[in-house]
Amino acid sequence: MKSRILLVLFTAVGTATAVDFKSQIVPIFRNKCYACHSVTKKVKGKLALDDDKLPEQIGPGKNIIPGEAMKSTMLINCTLPNDDADVMPPDGKNRLTDAEIDLLKGWINEGASLTGGGASPAPAPASAPAAGGAMKWTSNDGKVIEAEFMGLQGDGVLLKISSTGVTHIVPLTRLSPESQAQAKSATK
Ligand code: HEC
Repeated sequence: MKSRILLVLFTAVGTATAVDFKSQIVPIFRNKCYACHSVTKKVKGKLALDDDKLPEQIGPGKNIIPGEAMKSTMLINCTLPNDDADVMPPDGKNRLTDAEIDLLKGWINEGASLTGGGASPAPAPASAPAAGGAMKWTSNDGKVIEAEFMGLQGDGVLLKISSTGVTHIVPLTRLSPESQAQAKSATK
């Protein structure tokens, strides 16, 4: 039950956190699209997704319409059924995961910024303490929250969430390796 609440919490926080182009979107393009959409390999459909070529794809009527993910061919093509002729990547191979689709959707809806995380700054280095003893914690699927470390309990870490003041037990396995290390080094 507790972990379910936290899952919701991380998800809720996640929607408020801006998607970072370099650390979250570029890896998706590199792993799933560059084989056919990069000047370093092949450029199919006249679509190159390299950082310096992307601006050509962004704008009204183009593949990426800032703020309008559901109208952007880029997202639409990635969410088509496997047997659709336009599905990307083609033939249902190496499809984007739901998490990747969410990132792509979030990034476009937040304005498809190529310079960083839009509204909120990129996550601080794992060990940088924020105000009032709060630190940044990253879940293993990339969501960031700010919380104060209250101790370890079994396989969980007690985190007092800065925005709500409520302490939750977060299973260590829900955290990124960096945040797990941060929890362990916080217990002296
Ligand atoms: C195996 C090769 C391949 C991969 C991998 C691939 N594509 Fe494509 N893509 C194509 C081809 C070929 C076309 C042109 C299709 C056409 O014109 O009918 C295309 C066209 C597109 C278009 C339409 C371009 C336009 O202006 O009409 C979009 C958007 C697109 N791809 C996005 C992606 C994204 C995003 C990824 C990665 C998640 C991806 N593709 C991965 C081969 C690929």
